[in-house]
Amino acid sequence: MAASVAGAATDPVRVLVVGQGYVGLLLALRAVEVGAIVTAYDIDAGKVEQLRGGRSHVSDVADAEVGRALASGRYRPVADAAGLGEFDVAVITVPTPLTEGVPDLTSIRSAAECVGTILRPGCLVVLESTTYPGTTDELLAPALEAASGLKAGVDFHVGYSPERIDPGNTEWTLVRIPKVVAGLTPGCLAAVEAFYGRLVERTVPVSTTRVAELTKLLENTFRHVNIALVNELAVHARALGIDIWEAIDATATKPFGYAAFRPGPGVGGHCLPIDPSYLSWRIERQLGVTSRFVVTANDVNQSMPGYVVRRVQLGLNDRRKAVKGARILVLGMAYKKNTNDARETPAAGIVRGLVELGADVVVHDDHVGPHELDLIAARVPLSTELVGSCDAVVLLTDHDDVDYELVTRHAAYVFDARNRMRGEQVDLL
Ligand SMILES: NC(=O)c1ccc[n+]([C@@H]2O[C@H](COP(=O)([O-])OP(=O)(O)OC[C@H]3O[C@@H](n4cnc5c(N)ncnc54)[C@H](O)[C@@H]3O)[C@@H](O)[C@H]2O)c1
Repeated sequence: MAASVAGAATDPVRVLVVGQGYVGLLLALRAVEVGAIVTAYDIDAGKVEQLRGGRSHVSDVADAEVGRALASGRYRPVADAAGLGEFDVAVITVPTPLTEGVPDLTSIRSAAECVGTILRPGCLVVLESTTYPGTTDELLAPALEAASGLKAGVDFHVGYSPERIDPGNTEWTLVRIPKVVAGLTPGCLAAVEAFYGRLVERTVPVSTTRVAELTKLLENTFRHVNIALVNELAVHARALGIDIWEAIDATATKPFGYAAFRPGPGVGGHCLPIDPSYLSWRIERQLGVTSRFVVTANDVNQSMPGYVVRRVQLGLNDRRKAVKGARILVLGMAYKKNTNDARETPAAGIVRGLVELGADVVVHDDHVGPHELDLIAARVPLSTELVGSCDAVVLLTDHDDVDYELVTRHAAYVFDARNRMRGEQVDLL
């Protein structure tokens, strides 16, 4: 069995991917591509049904890719844990949300229990979910041991490898992004490296699973803090009458010592609103001190939707219009351009804020599927008539497939949180 974990050319590796969300689906399809036999387990029966029918729920994955994997006969989406069968490598890609501000590892626990009951000597189990340092050795390994009766690092391998995919990014794909890998023991690390060595161009081994866990939180906290910095500067620069966008572009010409981050209407998705709080929670719990940068970044980034609502209110006010009764078109509901991901999207707070002030809000976003916001703001196709009939157009997510020229030509007033449009009637964040 250890031979197949290490990737013997003659013996296709049997991979169990637990979770078929954004991360798990990409990983499962890549494993199929390199010849593995993949069981793709998800507790969401609807998602599994969709995948079995050759339909992708992830914007980076075309239906045809799912179709190809199914046609290979080596991709088997499963919703019933009883049908999982044997595996050589299990990769856990389940959600790690915050519940009432605290890390909620329920999904990792239940995934570990499920994998543990079918774990056999020689297998490798890798966690990819983003989580606080210590999860793999304190929680995952003991849970697998308890469910299997086997000893981690002796009877089976355990590792951690953070997923670093950037949805919508066609240049830096799963295969091209260097993969940080770690194991409980040197033997575990060797097994993790051998497995990912077949999937990605480059692996980056680190000495402990805690280092690998911190790597991911460091990346996301770095982004969160820097976005908060430019968000705060955008608010202040506006008050000082300075164009922050021009200042950022000019600063970015410095060939060293600076990384350009751009302001926006707030942060969304899994990485920024949630992951840094895993780090601050752990630091607070274990060391009894506050992670001041995370607290401040949360504070600034969470204030942005309210700031956008205020700016739209002021923009309408300048045009002698009240928000109450105004017809407002919101462009972009996804938290990130060119994706269908609306988890934790700042658009939700902005649409709710405008509706609470009495605006008649409609939303255009062809990427995002049905969403709870649809109940308070109807989804509409973009047209000259629509834009011309609105008192304000608020750009929150600048998907590339939107006709911005049409918008600037026909809108009475535009609030642009992404620096995408120019004109007399356009106010930038
Ligand atoms: N989305 C990203 O761009 C991204 C990037 C890097 C890391 N991550 C991290 O990867 C992890 C997964 O993120 P995601 O975006 O794929 O989440 P997701 O919500 O899209 O997918 C997770 C899937 O796991 C399933 N699931 C939950 N509990 C399960 C269980 N016990 N057994 C089987 N399936 C279960 C859910 O039904 C869901 O389909 C998170 O920790 C996230 O922070 C996400």
